[in-house]
Amino acid sequence: MKFIPEPFKIKMVEPLNLIDRQAREKALVEAGYNPFSLKAEDVFIDLLTDSGTGAMSDRQWAGIMLGDESYAGSRNFYHLQESARKIFGYEYIIPTHQGRGAEQILFPQLLKKKGDFFISNMHFDTTKAHVELCGGVAINAITPKALDTAVYDDWKGNFDLNKVEDLFREKGVENIAAVIVTITCNSSGGQPVSMDNIKSVSNLARKNGVPVVFDSARFAENAYFIKERDPNYKNASIAEIVQEMYSYGDCLTCSAKKDAIVNMGGLIGIKNDSQLFDACRSYLVPMEGFPTYGGLNGRDMEAVAIGLQEGVDYNYLKSRIGQVEFLGDLLRDAGVPIQYPTGGHAVFVDCAKICPHIPFDQFPAQSVCNAVYLEGGVRPVEIGSFLLGRDPLTGENLRSDLELMRLTIPRRVYTDNHMRYIAQTVIEVANNAKKLKGFEFDYEPPVLRHFTARLKPKN
Ligand code: F0G
Repeated sequence: MKFIPEPFKIKMVEPLNLIDRQAREKALVEAGYNPFSLKAEDVFIDLLTDSGTGAMSDRQWAGIMLGDESYAGSRNFYHLQESARKIFGYEYIIPTHQGRGAEQILFPQLLKKKGDFFISNMHFDTTKAHVELCGGVAINAITPKALDTAVYDDWKGNFDLNKVEDLFREKGVENIAAVIVTITCNSSGGQPVSMDNIKSVSNLARKNGVPVVFDSARFAENAYFIKERDPNYKNASIAEIVQEMYSYGDCLTCSAKKDAIVNMGGLIGIKNDSQLFDACRSYLVPMEGFPTYGGLNGRDMEAVAIGLQEGVDYNYLKSRIGQVEFLGDLLRDAGVPIQYPTGGHAVFVDCAKICPHIPFDQFPAQSVCNAVYLEGGVRPVEIGSFLLGRDPLTGENLRSDLELMRLTIPRRVYTDNHMRYIAQTVIEVANNAKKLKGFEFDYEPPVLRHFTARLKPKN
């Protein structure tokens, strides 16, 4: 039997309300044409992110009731430690309030001196920010195949290994703080990194004494793609694939808000370096909290402990990633250009192709996002030149390689009928995209401008 539906049923529902077009127009003007500033109540289907927006299971909610809110030594910490050790095979587990909490603790410990380099397939924006905040320099070495959205490739999250080798040589291995393997690679479209590529980049790093860090937000989705696309892993379980992936690394940061399906939480994992563990633990106390809670409630740690195990269930992953693919196929069949194949957590629409008439510094993807909200109350997010910001030296707007609209699918939240509605909305906008206009700033914050900027339509 080929078709299998979602491996869960719905026990609790939350009403959705579609406000009328006039009200959406007013809401968008009030939000300064920036969907981040919309009130969630004015949104019908929220595709801003898959982070912290998933639906927890009955087991996770039951776990919440078993929260032990002791300041030190909470039983939920020990459960989380056991669960994470089992998944990743790393000895030392430190809870943090979310993924960026883990980044702010770990990265300064890896940096030997200011100006050291972190090389990643692609840094997520907070990851890059934390590299820079601790005095490092973030460099991406993504495969060029990721930049051609129309051409199929199984592994658009891979490192360009030649570039990594060149960087090691050019920069000098003593100046490289770490290699960060982002699985799946969010910024290239939720695209997977192959086991071979992980192994090769790890060999290269190890040969040169450079530690390998996994940015683990979507580690289970990456393992699912390896199982489906690499014949060598056809018969391996997701848990076995995860174990092997992590055997090639030294430590990990994890936003538990994605594949561990919780609303808040994060982790640091360290394979066996007790000195690094001690350094992280000491820094954790003033930054996040005591090492057995790290910024989380006991109940939250319990939900992460349970969610980590649910997140590696094959049938769940198949339905989750299958739903993203379903939406991608609906759009592709209607001629909407997307990053192909679809990634694990989102469909990325190629807006440079939909709106070739809008220059990059008038933010074509932002224009499409706003139109999609107006059309159907669906809230996407821009991943393009609006997000990228300005060159810190020249002050010029940077031009992103890709102008994408991300339709990010929360886990276990929306049905396939929601996907049909989203597709219908996006197709309508794409068919009328010639009429869309670019935007200019009404207010531009100096850093991470995309979160709070206000825009106005360009005349
Ligand atoms: N790394 C990756 C690859 C991410 O996608 C994120 C978050 C983080 C680290 C930071 O984790 O949010 O828990 O602090 N990504 C979200 C997104 C916000 O919408 O893609 P966090």
